[in-house]
Amino acid sequence: MAYTAGDGALYWDQEYRNGRTRWHRKHVHEPLVRHYKKLIPDRTVRRVLVTMCGMTIDMNWLADQGLQVVGVDIALQALAQFMKDSGREWTEQSAPKLGTEAKCFTVRR
Ligand SMILES: C[S@@+](CC[C@H](N)C(=O)[O-])C[C@H]1O[C@@H](n2cnc3c(N)ncnc32)[C@H](O)[C@@H]1O
Repeated sequence: MAYTAGDGALYWDQEYRNGRTRWHRKHVHEPLVRHYKKLIPDRTVRRVLVTMCGMTIDMNWLADQGLQVVGVDIALQALAQFMKDSGREWTEQSAPKLGTEAKCFTVRR
């Protein structure tokens, strides 16, 4: 992959490749579940953007709530791993304003 110097993508990608993902949780962030009804009070909210999403399984939980989830990250390794594990179909678009290698993934309902 052709990373540009200084965009941080190489660093993060290597962290994921080497399994240095101490921030990654195997369960949904509990405050998200606790405050969900305040954050998404009704069905007028249909889409949610998860920035710097990594491989967080919060995205699966949000999709389970019926939302269209858009995850954005610069570490392609994290996104590839997440999509492999999530058991859902995702569409992929480039996100050039975030960096040359940035991708935006949207869950298909
Ligand atoms: C500490 S991890 C947290 C990941 C996720 N939010 C979680 O809770 O598991 C930070 C994440 O931010 C991503 N990141 C760092 N800089 C970014 C940028 N400029 N644009 C998009 N994502 C970025 C990294 O690739 C990494 O996945």
